[in-house]
Amino acid sequence: MHILINVNGRSHSLEVRPETSLLQLLRDELGLTGTKHGCDGGECGACTVLVDGRPLNSCLVLALSVRGREIMTIEGLASGGKLHPLQQAFVEHGFLQCGFCGPGMILSAKALLEQTPSPDPDAVRRALAGNLCRCTGYVGVVEAVMDAAAQMRDRS
Ligand code: FES
Ligand code: FES
Repeated sequence: MHILINVNGRSHSLEVRPETSLLQLLRDELGLTGTKHGCDGGECGACTVLVDGRPLNSCLVLALSVRGREIMTIEGLASGGKLHPLQQAFVEHGFLQCGFCGPGMILSAKALLEQTPSPDPDAVRRALAGNLCRCTGYVGVVEAVMDAAAQMRDRS
């Protein structure tokens, strides 16, 4: 079936099978492997992308159901050769080890900061509750998001 989809600001016209998930489309058809394939069942959040600005588990979403929508993956976040403040803060806090959870965490955090530019730590924890990390504790990620939020407020 035909699908027209906008990913990271670029339009793509593709033929997909009805059962193709958004995750499969992104990774297998568009080569956007920053979106990770974890549990394939809505449990880990590694496959999180933004659909019209809202975080969704792309493993649970049929590609056909997001026809005409705006998708953002981690590859669309940096701009002008510069990391997004969230990406920079994750690096500076040394939060990531294997990195598998990072793209989903960062995109969930981005959605939070769009809605709530000055979150408290509990709001950050709630926003990231669906993003699991098998390597680290969760203290560093909350600190990273709080730092990024402060930087983004300073710039605006
Ligand atoms: S791969 Fe989608 S939630 Fe785990
Ligand atoms: S850094 Fe490895 S899963 Fe989070």
